[in-house]
Amino acid sequence: MADSTTTTISATTMYVHKVVINILVGVCFLSFPSGTAISWQHRNMILDNFCGNCIFALVSSTSSSSSKSILSTSKSTSTLSHQSCRRRRNIHFRHRVLFGSNNHNTEKSDNNDHPIIIDGKKTAAAIRKELEEEIKNIRNEYDGTIPGLAVVLVGERVDSATYVRMKKKAAAEIGIHSVDVTLNTNISEDELIREVEKLNSDPKVHGILVQLPLPDHINEAKVLKSIKYEKDADGFDATNIGNMWLRGGEPPLAIPCTPAGCIELLQRYNIKISGKECVVLGRSNIVGMPMSALLQSCNGTVTVCHSRTENIPEFVRRADILIAAIGKAEFVKGDWLKPGVVIVDVGINDKPDPTKKRGYRLVGDVDYDEAILKASAITPVPGGVGPMTIAMLMKNTVNLCRHSLGLSRLRLRDRLHDGEYVNTTTSTTTTTAFTL
Ligand code: GUN
Repeated sequence: MADSTTTTISATTMYVHKVVINILVGVCFLSFPSGTAISWQHRNMILDNFCGNCIFALVSSTSSSSSKSILSTSKSTSTLSHQSCRRRRNIHFRHRVLFGSNNHNTEKSDNNDHPIIIDGKKTAAAIRKELEEEIKNIRNEYDGTIPGLAVVLVGERVDSATYVRMKKKAAAEIGIHSVDVTLNTNISEDELIREVEKLNSDPKVHGILVQLPLPDHINEAKVLKSIKYEKDADGFDATNIGNMWLRGGEPPLAIPCTPAGCIELLQRYNIKISGKECVVLGRSNIVGMPMSALLQSCNGTVTVCHSRTENIPEFVRRADILIAAIGKAEFVKGDWLKPGVVIVDVGINDKPDPTKKRGYRLVGDVDYDEAILKASAITPVPGGVGPMTIAMLMKNTVNLCRHSLGLSRLRLRDRLHDGEYVNTTTSTTTTTAFTL
C-alpha cells in the first residue's frame, strides 16, 4: 500500500502515528476535530483501517483542506469492506455505550455519524417476557385458561417450515399452547378449509395462522376467509383490516404482525411518527398496506410506493421515516436518503457471499453500509424487524384469548407517547383512528 509521496518513517514514528490514529478512532470514534491535519503517513493507516464510505464521511467532517485532499485520494484506494471497517465497529460500540437505554427522538438526533441501531431482538425478547407474565395472570385468574395458537403449514417450502418452527418455539417458551397442523402439498382447497373449520370450533385454539404462501392450486383469499374473525391470529380478516383503517371505528381484534412490530419498535425507541413524512415501499397485504394504515393512524403523512411508482428515489428522499418492504436486496441506496431519516427495513434477502460457509448472507431492502452514514436510526437485517413479527403473533394470540374472556386488547405500546395516543377506555379524546 506504499505511496510514492509517502516519506520513509522510523518504527518509533510509525508507533506514535499508530497511537494517534488509535486515539482518534477509539476515543473520538473518528469524529475528527474539524481542524485536524492529516499527513500522508496517517493516510496509509487510514487506508488499512477504514472502508471507502467511512473515509468519505471523514472527508466531510474535516475542515482542513490538505486533510480533505489526502482523505479524498484514500477513499477510492481503500479495499476494505464496510463490514471489516474499524470506524463501523467503533460506531456499533458507541451505540451500545451511548444508547444502552432506548431513548431516542428523531428531532433531537443530529447525526449522520452514529445512527441508533434499533435492536429488534432485544425488544422482541422484552415483549415476550411481558406476554409470559400476562399468560400466567390469565391462567391464574381464568380457571387455568391457556392461550392457544394453531399453525397450519401446507407443503414443504423450507422458508415456511423454518418460520413455522420459530413461531411454535416462541409460543412454547412463553406458555402458549400450540397446535401443529402439517399438510401435504397436494391437499385440495376444500380439504384445507375443512381443517381450518375444525380449528375454528376447537375451544383450546384462540388463534389460527395459515402460513403463506400456499401452493398455486389453492386460493389463498378463500382459505384466509374461512378462518373465524375471532381467531384471526394474523389480523388479515377483512373486518380486522377494515377496522384498522376506519377512524373512530371498533378496534381490530388483531393487527398484521410485521407492521405491528414496526410500529412497536418505533414507539419503544420513542420515535415520533405524528406529522412526519412516512414513505412505505411495497403495498402487500401482509406488510405495505397495513403498514400505511398504522402509520396514518399514528398521524404520519404516508406515501406508498410500489412496482408501478415512477422515480421511487424522489419519494424516498422526502422520508423522515422509511419502511422498506419491497423484497429486493439493497434496493435503497444511500444517496436516496434524507440525513437523519429513520429506517425500518422489513426485507430479508439472500446475497451471494463466498466468505460465508453457506455461500450467502442475509441483507435487507436497504443498503445498510450506505444507509448508516445518513440515518439517525435503523433496523439491522437480521435482528431488526424479523424477531418482532413473531413477538407480535404471540401478542395477537394472547389478545384473541383475552377477547374470548371478554377482556380488552393489549395495546401495541405500553405507555402514552407524546400525548398522541390516548386510551379510549380512559378518555373520550383520541387522535388515532383506533386505539393502537
Ligand atoms: N408468510 C410470510 N409472512 C407471513 C405472515 O405474517 N403470516 C402468514 N400467515 N404467512 C406469512
